[in-house]
Amino acid sequence: MSSSASPATATESQTAPAEKTYKIVQDFSNFGETEANRPNFDQAKPIEVTKSPYPNWKYGEGVPDNGASLVQKHHEIDPYAPDRPMINNYRLLVSGIVPRPVGFLSTVNSKGQKNLSPFSYFQVIDHDPPMFIVGFSSRPGRVKDTNRNLKETRECVINTVSENMIEAVNASSIDAPYGISEWEVSGLHEAPSTTVKPSRVEESVFNIEGKVIDIKEFTDHQKPGMSLAATVLIKATRFWVKEGTADAEYSHIDLDKLRPIGQLGGVCYGRVVSTFERPRSKWDDEVPKSELLAKLDAAKPK
Ligand SMILES: Cc1cc2nc3c(=O)[nH]c(=O)nc-3n(C[C@H](O)[C@H](O)[C@H](O)COP(=O)(O)O)c2cc1C
Repeated sequence: MSSSASPATATESQTAPAEKTYKIVQDFSNFGETEANRPNFDQAKPIEVTKSPYPNWKYGEGVPDNGASLVQKHHEIDPYAPDRPMINNYRLLVSGIVPRPVGFLSTVNSKGQKNLSPFSYFQVIDHDPPMFIVGFSSRPGRVKDTNRNLKETRECVINTVSENMIEAVNASSIDAPYGISEWEVSGLHEAPSTTVKPSRVEESVFNIEGKVIDIKEFTDHQKPGMSLAATVLIKATRFWVKEGTADAEYSHIDLDKLRPIGQLGGVCYGRVVSTFERPRSKWDDEVPKSELLAKLDAAKPK
């Protein structure tokens, strides 16, 4: 869904030059050919559980690889350097901060028109109260419709994305013109919400109804012809968990039922096929077991 110009939206003459340098969506004109040579997706692949990389790791050991991970030095980058194209920061961040969960957001505008789009500048940031954050990038012209809708109606549903949904979810990121609902583009199904107007995605294992509690717009960073970037803080008002995917108390979702996908760099997605566990420890329990912790404990400020 698109929108008409708002005060924070660039005019067309400003947008055209911005469009020329904005190349976030890469050209994959022969993607069909590339994918044809790849093995099929194994829907039934079990999630294995292994040992952790260094099961006998001791306090103070860092990475026990005989210094191999210290050989290469780092290259310093100023993200704001005048000769550093924005696209390089985009590619660096989306390939370097991975995997990212995808928040699949259902919103409506003030006229009740629906929108459904995925965002991986997304995270749960607390449980008490349950809070989420979503980042909207700037682009030539108008702000992203989800961003605008959240500002207008301050409500959404955050839907999880499972492996079996990925084609439909990815398709819903299309820059659909105004009035065209990505619900139809995706073919996903709407389920009613209780505390907010936007619908839930029926196929998702977990839906979170939520209300906007804060919006930070980066006005000091806005560039000619580009829309305002914004970060939105959302507080949950209701949870919905698909029956048969969680324990009896609805306090734990089964990974094997959720089958989450993570966004990686470029247009790459990853799946969870192998996991391992590491128990967390308490200082008082560990001090008697570790010479290093005992030494640090003895030297703690009185
Ligand atoms: C998996 C995935 C993750 C995305 N993450 C983001 C994001 O975090 N922020 C953003 O601004 N755009 C992101 N996009 C692009 C938006 O989905 C895209 O611009 C979409 O058209 C926005 O829709 P809207 O204008 O209807 O809100 C992502 C796209 C995909 C496929």
